[in-house]
Amino acid sequence: MDWAVLRERAVEAAQSAYCPYSGLQVGAAALCSDGRIVVGCNVENASYGVGLCAECALAGQLFLTGGGRLVALACRSGGGELLMPCGRCRQVVYELGGAGCLVDTPSGVLPMSRVLPDAFGPEDLP
Ligand code: THU
Repeated sequence: MDWAVLRERAVEAAQSAYCPYSGLQVGAAALCSDGRIVVGCNVENASYGVGLCAECALAGQLFLTGGGRLVALACRSGGGELLMPCGRCRQVVYELGGAGCLVDTPSGVLPMSRVLPDAFGPEDLP
């Protein structure tokens, strides 16, 4: 697991962000179960609430490039600062990587079971 590569890919992705409203470039990069890396950047909208987070773009890339599961994820600003996935995106990552997916956090590398404790997930549906 090469966190340096994942972090750098997240910074690169952030630099493609479309963020004219917040000015915050966000990039996400994830290692997939087959070893490839998928990335995403945020895409904002004049209708502010319609903006897409970087992790949502990454979710699309996951399935567009072959599917599989997320194993590890890093989020960064265009300037390289560590950013945490927002609450909604934690749910997205939980869906696609499960409780064991590793996330780069200010407290170190943590599993999703720590990033989104007692999560609602696929196992809660009948
Ligand atoms: N943003 C993300 O892309 N991912 C997150 O997890 C947190 C927030 C974006 C959304 C918006 O374009 C900008 O950051 C400022 O909120």
